[in-house]
Amino acid sequence: EIYRASTTAPVNIAVIKYWGKRDAKLNLPTNSSLSVTLSQNDLRTHTTASCSASYPAEDSLLLNGKPQDVSGARTQACFRELRALRKEVEAKDSNAPKLADLPLKIVSENNFPTAAGLASSAAGFAALVRAIANLYELPADPTELSRIARQGSGSACRSLFGGYVGWEQGSATDGSDSKAFEVAPASHWPNMRAVILVVSAAKKDVSSTSGMQTTVATSSLFASRASETVPRRMKEMQDAIKNKDFETFGKVTMMDSNSFHATCLDTYPPIFYLNDVSRAAIKMVEQINTAAGKIIAAYTFDAGPNAVIYYLEENEKQVAGVFKTLLADKDGWSGERGAAIEGNYE
Ligand code: DP6
Repeated sequence: EIYRASTTAPVNIAVIKYWGKRDAKLNLPTNSSLSVTLSQNDLRTHTTASCSASYPAEDSLLLNGKPQDVSGARTQACFRELRALRKEVEAKDSNAPKLADLPLKIVSENNFPTAAGLASSAAGFAALVRAIANLYELPADPTELSRIARQGSGSACRSLFGGYVGWEQGSATDGSDSKAFEVAPASHWPNMRAVILVVSAAKKDVSSTSGMQTTVATSSLFASRASETVPRRMKEMQDAIKNKDFETFGKVTMMDSNSFHATCLDTYPPIFYLNDVSRAAIKMVEQINTAAGKIIAAYTFDAGPNAVIYYLEENEKQVAGVFKTLLADKDGWSGERGAAIEGNYE
């Protein structure tokens, strides 16, 4: 007999960045963060979890058809937590099939090329955790599942909700209060759009996990970012989203991306995620906003050179239109120029 459940989880892109851990094992952050979820039609991971006594004894994970190592501490932490919750179900209900002890087989597919250089671990761990939770018939409260997904990858905790999602840093040493919460559903501000400029599909030189550890250990800008800048911006950003105030949303998004990359540069040895094409994209957004006389476009960059640009649907021509024209013009974007992936919000 094979037990099976499937789910999908969306990619999220932070507008207030998570950068720094106070506990590297539990992925407990040094500041809260906030993200916007991309539409599942565009960027998501689909995962099927199954278990059976007829499977080989080892748990397994296939991503886009390729076997992955599941022995890592992060994946193991997710499996362990979910199995413990399943054991509780089985202890309470003697009729519940004994699934917790059966080998797991996880099959995941991204609907975007992994080679696009986009962070996929967030959607990946969120989908893995929810698929197993569904398989084990655990309560599907996204906040509770976010606590488990966080142990897979910090940013994954924000992919259990759609729309506008916060991650409360928490203060408990066991991480019990470090989890995601809904700021607003996507329907609250449905005309939000994003275009992603894939500047480079190459794997990042410095992984976020090791980069943030070096930042915490060496950057002198980091302490004020974590203790003053981000707490203030978390509030400004939540108000901007509640009021559908794009100017504030855009300004805070761009300034927080700049602050995060400044902290990276202030790390020793320095970490460079932006390149010349990234900086050209920043200039282009500045020109678009200057021409409009207000902020109608906002860029943000994660741990890599690819730009995500937010705008409202009514400004599609003035924002995405400009980037699409540039992308079509190879001379304008020579070198490591890539394709644009358009993202809608669900
Ligand atoms: C720059 O969530 O990938 O994208 O917890 O070590 O897995 P780990 O790190 P990860 O870091 C994401 C960093 C970021 C900012 C963000 O998504 O908030």
